[in-house]
Amino acid sequence: MRVKLTVQKFDPEQDVKPHNRDYFVEAGRETTVLAALMKIKAEIDGTLTFRASCRAAICGSCPMQINGSQKLACRTSIFEELEHHQKISVGPMANMPVIKDMVVQMDPFWEKIRAVTPYVISSDDGERPIPTEALKTIQTDLENADACIMCGACLSACNSFEASDQFLGPAALAKAIRFQVDPRDEQHDTRLNALQESNGIWDCVRCVSCVQVCPKDVQPMEQIVRLRRRSIEKGLTDSVGARHITKFVKIVGEEGRLNEARLPIMMTWGSLKKMLRIIPLGIKMLLHGKAPITPHKVPDVHEIQAIFKRKQESKR
Ligand code: SF4
Ligand code: SF4
Ligand code: FES
Repeated sequence: MRVKLTVQKFDPEQDVKPHNRDYFVEAGRETTVLAALMKIKAEIDGTLTFRASCRAAICGSCPMQINGSQKLACRTSIFEELEHHQKISVGPMANMPVIKDMVVQMDPFWEKIRAVTPYVISSDDGERPIPTEALKTIQTDLENADACIMCGACLSACNSFEASDQFLGPAALAKAIRFQVDPRDEQHDTRLNALQESNGIWDCVRCVSCVQVCPKDVQPMEQIVRLRRRSIEKGLTDSVGARHITKFVKIVGEEGRLNEARLPIMMTWGSLKKMLRIIPLGIKMLLHGKAPITPHKVPDVHEIQAIFKRKQESKR
């Protein structure tokens, strides 16, 4: 079957801005987008530039935007794309500087990985095998966080990264959980403390994009949630994000539902400066009916309170 691929081309040495070019290739049921691009490069346009190596979803070299979503070209079927989108458009990953065609600058990705110190820190400088008895527990605790192939698709799809390129991002944070569960590492608390800072775990907006695009089911957002849970369990509750969660839960436990007027007061309690800063927002919320002066009554609230009480008791 003859198929059309619309490919975004950009050569900074020649082009002012990116432009699309249509290519027609023969494709069979098994043809992947990568195979089609390789055919184009070999037979039609030798200038077409992209990264690839293993062709088996192992090396992480070939992520690109295919029909608007970050995917590995080597495991994306031409036929399935046509079935779902009735077209095939290919371009470089979003939110990364383009070097040429589908090749993007990966430095932002690697900087973030480096920022979480991606190696075991231990005073024992000899060989450090994981104790056999701990291996099984670690495997369970990792929850697939170690399956990452460093392709960068999640960072490219991340809404928080798009808003601020300082955000540590899904892959680096998923990497961070790996050292929390490693018994050889001696810096668990220091590492967790560092993640509380601005651009760390609390800056994820839980948009789920990283989970959707990850080709290895690492579920970076879930790993971030685990880091958040671990932080609260260890009493790291000073950050805005942690305060939001703990106060939110406290209010629901007491009143049976969120009290929008009480939450900001509880979050800023003890800091006049912070309280003054939220007054304009509070007035806006009141005017738009988003913070009712008299809280909504929840029928049978004692049942909700009992659930929270049981949960608290089960933690002891
Ligand atoms: S869930 Fe969080 S880390 Fe994942 S893409 Fe969204 S903002 Fe980024
Ligand atoms: S977490 Fe998934 S999407 Fe992100 S770099 Fe690793 S393999 Fe790629
Ligand atoms: S070529 Fe290695 S992951 Fe696609």
